[in-house]
Amino acid sequence: MTLETRPDANDPHPYQTTRDSQSPGAAARPLRIVQISDPHLCETHDGTLLGLKTHDSLDAVLALVDDDASTPDLIIATGDITQDRSREAYADFCQQIARFGCPVVWIPGNHDDADMMAEVAPFPELQSKTFVIGDWKFIFLNTAVPGKVYGRLAAEELQLLQSELDNAVQPHIAVCLHHHPITIRSRWLDKIGLRNADDFFAVTDRCDKVRAIVWGHIHQEIDELRNNVRMLASPSTCVQFKPESGSFAVGEQAPGYRWFDLFPDGRIETQVERADHIDFVIDMNSKGY
Ligand SMILES: [Fe+2]
Repeated sequence: MTLETRPDANDPHPYQTTRDSQSPGAAARPLRIVQISDPHLCETHDGTLLGLKTHDSLDAVLALVDDDASTPDLIIATGDITQDRSREAYADFCQQIARFGCPVVWIPGNHDDADMMAEVAPFPELQSKTFVIGDWKFIFLNTAVPGKVYGRLAAEELQLLQSELDNAVQPHIAVCLHHHPITIRSRWLDKIGLRNADDFFAVTDRCDKVRAIVWGHIHQEIDELRNNVRMLASPSTCVQFKPESGSFAVGEQAPGYRWFDLFPDGRIETQVERADHIDFVIDMNSKGY
């Protein structure tokens, strides 16, 4: 299992691009970032989550990305890459995402095995903690707590966040994590969000370059503003959770992804796309996942 585009192993920033400044006088096109989240892949392609074949639904969502006229400059995968932490499931993800030939960075979710991810990553950049593209810097945080569904940022992750914000020469920053750092008006999900969100915001609130905070985990879309920073979540590429539900409930919306167009002036355009054209069978009566 290999990805089509391999970076130069000797280059510390193999995918860094200055594309926006490559054509003096030309109007810079925005950077196209694609967020893929919570594919919950299984050891075999027949593996299901709540009756849904997660391999097939990821394939359908990636076909949507493929169909879009804009080619991704970077794909971010915000956790729960697998449901069963199997080597085969991670290999399946890498195989499927390889079709784009662009850089991909993944972070672990509560269903993942971070050690296994590090072991199976076909190239180290998949495990990047930061990624610079044009005028934007991405910071990737691990909020997973082994054996727990909720998230927490360990002291080292908070220190890394602080130092990467302090050292950023880029004017715009996006921070990516798996667990949601704000309440989303869903009682059961708000119990399993980022437990030390106050510590997180204490760091990000001091940096006026942070433009967006991006996460997965909640299997539904969110687009809100907090202190003038965009709070953004993507749907899952498989099963959705019903928004604003007090207890666990499956949502009826189709699998999807989020795209972002990032501009040199810090502006963000973003939208969710869904695989509405595909018939998916989901067990709507499930009491948990
Ligand atoms: Fe998930």
